[in-house]
Amino acid sequence: MTTTLLVGSTPDALAKELIRRIAAIARDSVEARGVFNIAVSGGSMPKILTGLATAEGLDWRKCKVWFADERCVPLDHSDSNYKAWADLLSSSGIPEGNVVTVDTDLSPKDAAANYEEALRAAFSVGGDAIGAQLPCFDAALLGVGPDGHTCSLFPGHPLLEERGKWVADIEDSPKPPPQRVTLTYPVLNNSRNVIFIGTGGGKASLLPQLLVVTGARKLKSAGDASPYPAARVRVGEGRELLWCVDQAAASQCPPEIMELATTC
Ligand code: 6PG
Repeated sequence: MTTTLLVGSTPDALAKELIRRIAAIARDSVEARGVFNIAVSGGSMPKILTGLATAEGLDWRKCKVWFADERCVPLDHSDSNYKAWADLLSSSGIPEGNVVTVDTDLSPKDAAANYEEALRAAFSVGGDAIGAQLPCFDAALLGVGPDGHTCSLFPGHPLLEERGKWVADIEDSPKPPPQRVTLTYPVLNNSRNVIFIGTGGGKASLLPQLLVVTGARKLKSAGDASPYPAARVRVGEGRELLWCVDQAAASQCPPEIMELATTC
């Protein structure tokens, strides 16, 4: 796994570079497999990525958008992650059927099972290769909270140990609203590309704890020993994990991490 830290000199520069990279992954995915499966998160992400709707070279007709997590509220509720993406998606030209929403009319448990079924139907899962029994997103776009959570995987929560379900329900999220549906580690870690987007000073003291410098002077995630759920996301050999942050979020990273960062 290659781990890269990308630091934007301005919010605009960060957004541009991120969008360029996502569009490049989309092109490669469509070329290789005819489709670009992308999982997205809520929070500040859709605002940062507004320009993705008109990204050069991104063929939205070949994109399939999934939700890495969703809050169990109606899809037109202001707390809904789908709702936060709705404007961007409607201006992108993506066919409506290519946006796979969580059925929030169901109970959280049933909504999670139903979303897992949708994944099962969309991804050809099978074979002996590593990860072949799991869906494989071309890109999973993840946020990180100041407590280190990602998706709806929170520090110390039993869901961090979930290895069977691809999609799980959570009834006691410390970040409101409490009822949510989230992808689990087995699926996240099977992604071809994981892109974390973390902006703002609220993440400054956290970031240095999520990344470590190896003896070979490479960055890697702190891993399973870390109490922070975001640090436990690890993609496989030959795959990419990218941390995209702004100056504020990077402001407390020590020089040994910053020396290995890429700026844009
Ligand atoms: C959610 C999210 C969550 C989010 C982080 C970061 O539904 O609440 O998917 O995991 O991505 O909390 O949020 P910010 O980008 O707003 O800091």
